[in-house]
Amino acid sequence: MKIMSGNSNLPLARAIAGYLELPLTDAAVRRFADEEIFVEIHENVRGEDVFVVQPTSYPVNDNLMELLICIDALRRASAKRITAVVPYFGYARQDRKPGPRTPISAKLVANLLTEAGADRVLSVDLHAGQIQGFFDIPTDNLFAAPVMAADIQARYGDQSLMVVSPDVGGVVRARALAKRLDNAPLSIVDKRRDKPGQSEVMNIIGDVKGRACILIDDIIDSGGTLCNAAQALMEAGAVSVTAYITHGVLSGAAVSRVTNSALKELVITDSIQATEAAKASDKIRILTIAPLIGEAIRRIADESSVSSLFD
Ligand code: R5P
Repeated sequence: MKIMSGNSNLPLARAIAGYLELPLTDAAVRRFADEEIFVEIHENVRGEDVFVVQPTSYPVNDNLMELLICIDALRRASAKRITAVVPYFGYARQDRKPGPRTPISAKLVANLLTEAGADRVLSVDLHAGQIQGFFDIPTDNLFAAPVMAADIQARYGDQSLMVVSPDVGGVVRARALAKRLDNAPLSIVDKRRDKPGQSEVMNIIGDVKGRACILIDDIIDSGGTLCNAAQALMEAGAVSVTAYITHGVLSGAAVSRVTNSALKELVITDSIQATEAAKASDKIRILTIAPLIGEAIRRIADESSVSSLFD
């Protein structure tokens, strides 16, 4: 087995390789003067089971292209099996046509990965589980929930908890987390979004008075959804609001929006490499999912059960 990395999240790739007690594959992923990407693998990978770690986060298109070119290089170097390890799958939010004459870009990205030569895909908290169906190759979708639940138990386990979904679409994810927290009660924020990039909280379904609220979502991008939800929950009588989000996209002014929000704390994972601003914010904490991904890789390589990781 070999672990190779693009440039998108080297610290995560190194941590995964460390968990597996393997060195990272010796490869150079660099740019020509005009920004064309060039990949050169400096060791033999013929007949190897290779895992390429590359979340397709900002800059999404560059990171995606790097991943495709790494896969192409591995295929042409006769790797036996290539797994695209994409902890954050960019374009996942474009998983259906929201209106006439619009693309389904998540499907296009799935086609590109397959066409480049990926034999398998490993991702974490895909925006929608159905994205697995966009691939005709095996696709494992890991959940960060066990890592989050352990942290919540350790930090907030002695409080009267309420798990909150920031929108109706996130209820299944929130319910799964609530189950792990000794069946904590569940509440839903009924969010209406007028324009892309803006969010408006309308209503809270459930009584959050006196509760330590745990907001759970897959992505924080502009931060609008979460910060508005936190404000609404505090106004409804919550004692505190902490957010656990798998993918810290944190675009634009998101970090300062979080820092100035009603949130007690934002906890994200290292599926995306954190910016210096995110690392410096005293409201943002990062949990690592390197052991989770490392263990899944070990099991895929050994052909043992991945799903039992979540029992
Ligand atoms: C939407 O369906 C996602 O689950 C997130 O709620 C959304 O992407 C968050 O975006 P933002 O932080 O820009 O409100």
